[in-house]
Amino acid sequence: MAPIIRTEKLRKVYAVGKERVVALNDVDLAIEKGEFCCIVGQSGSGKSTLLNMLAGLEKPTRGKVFIGKHEISAMTETELARFRQAHLGFIFQSYNLLPTMTAAENVALPLLFKGVDKATRMRLARKELKNMGLLGRANHLPTEMSGGQQQRVGIARAFVSSPKVIFADEPTGNLDSMTSKQVLYRMLEMSKHQKVTFVMVTHEPELAQCADRIVTILDGKVQSSVVQDDETKQKYRDELFADMDGNLDIGGAASKETPAAAQS
Ligand SMILES: Nc1ncnc2c1ncn2[C@@H]1O[C@H](COP(=O)(O)OP(=O)(O)OP(=O)(O)O)[C@@H](O)[C@H]1O
Ligand SMILES: [Mg+2]
Repeated sequence: MAPIIRTEKLRKVYAVGKERVVALNDVDLAIEKGEFCCIVGQSGSGKSTLLNMLAGLEKPTRGKVFIGKHEISAMTETELARFRQAHLGFIFQSYNLLPTMTAAENVALPLLFKGVDKATRMRLARKELKNMGLLGRANHLPTEMSGGQQQRVGIARAFVSSPKVIFADEPTGNLDSMTSKQVLYRMLEMSKHQKVTFVMVTHEPELAQCADRIVTILDGKVQSSVVQDDETKQKYRDELFADMDGNLDIGGAASKETPAAAQS
């Protein structure tokens, strides 16, 4: 099967004054459809830079990024914006919520871009907020919520339009450990049942070891890209989710309602 995300000799050089920082150096990487992929590595190794290139948020200095058969590194800004709205979801460490909109309005935003009617948008946004344990905050503004709550709104917003690929830069960095687990659990369910591909940067080894693939970045290069066998990852998932309520088997049944307009 062809990978859903692929890079060819990806390179990113930042100019800082007279100095040049090689943040990524000839990265060749492939991620399969439906994989839950974690990117790990030391601070400054190039994880966020890589994620931003894969998600089309920044242009590479050299090299190519493909999502499916689309070379996103060759798209214009307008084409990229349209492609991102149609197919990709993002969870940022700094939330990026719109300050004048309520939690529900923020979550509903990606559906607006997809032309979903208002009643359906708000219904799906509330459902996603409920999944994040935040229905009681649906009408709150971002400033009226804690950091962890805002992060969960950002996650609900990434999930609501059922994108094919979701990129997340340390999405659990501001969450307590139980909430982190619940968020990871929901992501793993989505990757399993809806074949959503996840690329998540994390500093937390106990989360990374639950992934299908672990990519380690060192000094702007891929040091390793390891696919974990089922037994190993199931063991780590059982350990991590042992004190959680509900079904621990990630292969268990789960359902998610999707608006017709968001399916593609
Ligand atoms: N906009 C920028 N301008 C100049 N240098 C940058 C820029 N963004 C990143 N860098 C540099 O590129 C390198 C990789 O940065 P990056 O943010 O990708 O690291 P990271 O692995 O995500 O680190 P962390 O775990 O601390 O988030 C670092 O040396 C950083 O200083
Ligand atoms: Mg980073």
